[in-house]
Amino acid sequence: MKKTIVLIGLIVTSIAVIQSCKKDEADTDADNALYSEITAGGFTYYQSGNILSGVSPSPHGSFKLRFNSNASAALDSTGELPTGNSFPTGSIIVKEIFSGSSISFYAVMKKDPSNGNAGSGWVWAEFNTDGSAAFSTSKKGDGCISCHSGLPNRDLTRTFDLH
Ligand code: HEC
Repeated sequence: MKKTIVLIGLIVTSIAVIQSCKKDEADTDADNALYSEITAGGFTYYQSGNILSGVSPSPHGSFKLRFNSNASAALDSTGELPTGNSFPTGSIIVKEIFSGSSISFYAVMKKDPSNGNAGSGWVWAEFNTDGSAAFSTSKKGDGCISCHSGLPNRDLTRTFDLH
């Protein structure tokens, strides 16, 4: 009887461990997929790719911003998202954070409301330059959204009103 209980306990524990490994793998796959999207071509830089200084309440410091073609399509002739407009699904915004003259990491927003990892319509992530996730998409923007919802914002983006 005791042996049976121990055995059942072991089986339940093993299943739990396997499930949690599968979840970690799925999270890593989702992060890797987004990282390959941000390292693909087809991006256009904001303000000619000048390095801009983070403005309060920015947590990141100096940065460049680039938009994929879906995001670029929503910008007006000055390169900004008009107040009151939204980015279309598939838009990707990459913030390259600089330390001196080299990129130290990336902060990313992807408009993808039906994605299981989306928070307020966006998938949020931070990546190290080796492609590993510093802030996983599986966190659903926890810690990002509260600040990005601060006013003023344009579809949860903060740059256009500050730079
Ligand atoms: C305390 C406030 C704050 C937090 C927390 C924050 N951000 Fe931001 N973020 C900003 C501000 C302000 C900007 C505008 C550019 C600048 O001055 O840095 C910005 C810009 C960005 C941009 C460029 C698009 C835009 O909004 O203009 C991305 C991408 C971004 N942040 C991603 C993230 C991610 C991912 C997280 C969470 C891991 C995060 N941010 C957390 C304040 C914040």
